Amino acid sequence: MSIKTATHDGVATIEIARPEKKNAITIAMYQAMADALNAAQADATVRAVLITGQPGIFTSGNDIEDFMQRPPSGAGSDSGDSPVFQFMRALIGCEKPVIAAVTGAAIGIGTTMLLHCDLVYVSDEARLAMPFVSLGLVPEFASSVIVPRLMGHVKAAEKLLLGDPFTGAEAVECGIANAVLPQAEVVNHARRVAQRFNALPPGAVGDTKKLLRRGEQTETLLQTIPVEGALFAERLRSPEAREAFTAFFQKRKPDFSKF
Ligand code: COA
Repeated sequence: MSIKTATHDGVATIEIARPEKKNAITIAMYQAMADALNAAQADATVRAVLITGQPGIFTSGNDIEDFMQRPPSGAGSDSGDSPVFQFMRALIGCEKPVIAAVTGAAIGIGTTMLLHCDLVYVSDEARLAMPFVSLGLVPEFASSVIVPRLMGHVKAAEKLLLGDPFTGAEAVECGIANAVLPQAEVVNHARRVAQRFNALPPGAVGDTKKLLRRGEQTETLLQTIPVEGALFAERLRSPEAREAFTAFFQKRKPDFSKF
């Protein structure tokens, strides 16, 4: 299992631990993360959730081999039950504060999951990116709605159309992250912040999170996910995506000139 979970001192930690594949997230790992979030939600002793990765890598995003071999179905079919969609719903639905410690590169869902966390701390070595288009895909996890709202259309186009990577400092500037910390300190800092919720009244914390998220129109986000998901699923099976995935494993640049 490449997701490690532990609950200690009121904090449920979800650690992505597959360093040999740069923490790429498989179907089983999405399921484990969804289960861990739901368990944290149900456990009254848990006051906050911490999501973290490995030194130098938060996650390289969805496992590209899974994209090729076992692509999730789109909305309206079995998407509601796909582990990736279970994970998305569990994160959006988590009523307890979710804190992310971004230990390094955060690609694809590595960045889009941050849009649904409450407090985000990034290492000074972190690089964020949403390179969906260069993989022949489209944005997911309601990023097509949240990213333009956070940074405006032209910056969003840079990140989502061109897939330009950006630094932790830029993530702070555009409201995705709270602070940049030295690599060696990011997890401990995030954990200390998570532990602060032990001293706060959980009912008021939960109600305040609900109010904060209300402005973000949770319903709109939940409705956007299947719309994006249907297109995403279609694109996963497209010749453009096939070329991008094959090129990744062949360690070459994709050739989109024939499309
Ligand atoms: N899915 C599946 N395998 C992945 C992966 C992913 N998302 N990311 C990395 N890996 C694998 C590589 O295939 C490689 O496997 P190998 O050792 O069997 O050849 C191993 O992890 C190490 O990756 P590598 O690319 O050699 O490491 P790097 O340090 O040069 O680069 C990244 C790290 C994260 C920049 C690079 O791996 C990358 O761009 N990954 C893909 C990111 C992506 O497009 N994700 C999908 C977003 S929707």
